[in-house]
Amino acid sequence: MSAFNRLLVTGLPAVPKPIVGRVASRYVAGESLDDAIRVVRNLNQQGAMATLDVLGEEVSERAKATAAVEEYLRVFAAIDREKVDSNISIKLTLLGLKIDEGFCRDNVARIVETAKSFGNFVRIDMEDYTTTDATLRIYRELHGRYGNVGVVLQAYMRRTLRDIEELPDQGANIRLCKGIYVEPRTIAWKGYETVRHNYVQALDKLMSRDVYVGIATHDEFLACAASALVDKHGLKPHQYEFQMLLGVDEELRRILIAAGHRLRVYVPYGADWYPYSIRRLRENPEVARHVLRAMMSGK
Ligand code: FDA
Repeated sequence: MSAFNRLLVTGLPAVPKPIVGRVASRYVAGESLDDAIRVVRNLNQQGAMATLDVLGEEVSERAKATAAVEEYLRVFAAIDREKVDSNISIKLTLLGLKIDEGFCRDNVARIVETAKSFGNFVRIDMEDYTTTDATLRIYRELHGRYGNVGVVLQAYMRRTLRDIEELPDQGANIRLCKGIYVEPRTIAWKGYETVRHNYVQALDKLMSRDVYVGIATHDEFLACAASALVDKHGLKPHQYEFQMLLGVDEELRRILIAAGHRLRVYVPYGADWYPYSIRRLRENPEVARHVLRAMMSGK
């Protein structure tokens, strides 16, 4: 990233919210469930599956967490009614993890149980390192109870190779990503190539353990390494999937689908789009150009 881009990225919080909103709209399906279903249907027509995420994180009031649970129950009903191919992704801090772990676990259990009644699946996103232990605890407990739940591991975490050893022996379903939060060096590998290296090691280890992996990346180097690992482990297309974020590198998405891989797109929606959008803009090297253009157009 150029020094100028870096400066703009650092200054993003000072950019007026409507401008961030306009630039970030490519990463978010819209504010309503109807908007989200429309985007999912469109993705399905392009040969991609989806995972729907209700935007929001770090709630401190029980009522807000309960409202998020209710919204997810509406999502399952809509997926079923509209016959679209999508599961869901959830963030535990939206479901009350910072309020009380037991309250959060019960909320997640309601969602996973409802998913099961619809024959659907729940992915627990991984947030910053202060939540890792609790997230894995809740995942293990609900996996044991219901089965139709998976979690995320982050390749930048120094602990990830160890965490893979402690996954359930049967039916584990893991999304592997690089990791997006700014973590201390004592917790996370820092070098770009180091994280790539750990990603490949973790993916190899997951596949060796017969884990179903969601290979979540837009990094062509990793897509290439992952394809080689799929061959090495003799996996059939139904034994893994690629995953990408809405609005990022649609050409790579088409290339992977055309090569016969299953691919799922992460589709966030909701009124609480700001923190998610800021994280996405920070990792987009072209952010400066987009933000400047939006500011110059004066809208
Ligand atoms: P990298 O950041 O190197 O990007 C590779 C290339 O992709 C870039 O050169 C650029 O061209 C393009 N690109 C990447 N991001 C872009 C953007 N926002 N806009 C435009 N182009 C972009 N993290 C986490 O900590 N917990 C989680 O639960 C999840 N969940 C998750 C789900 C899915 C489906 C994906 C794809 C990613 C996540 N992540 C995540 C985010 C992940 O950790 C990581 O930050 C991003 O995927 C970027 O890493 P890449 O592997 O794409 O490599």
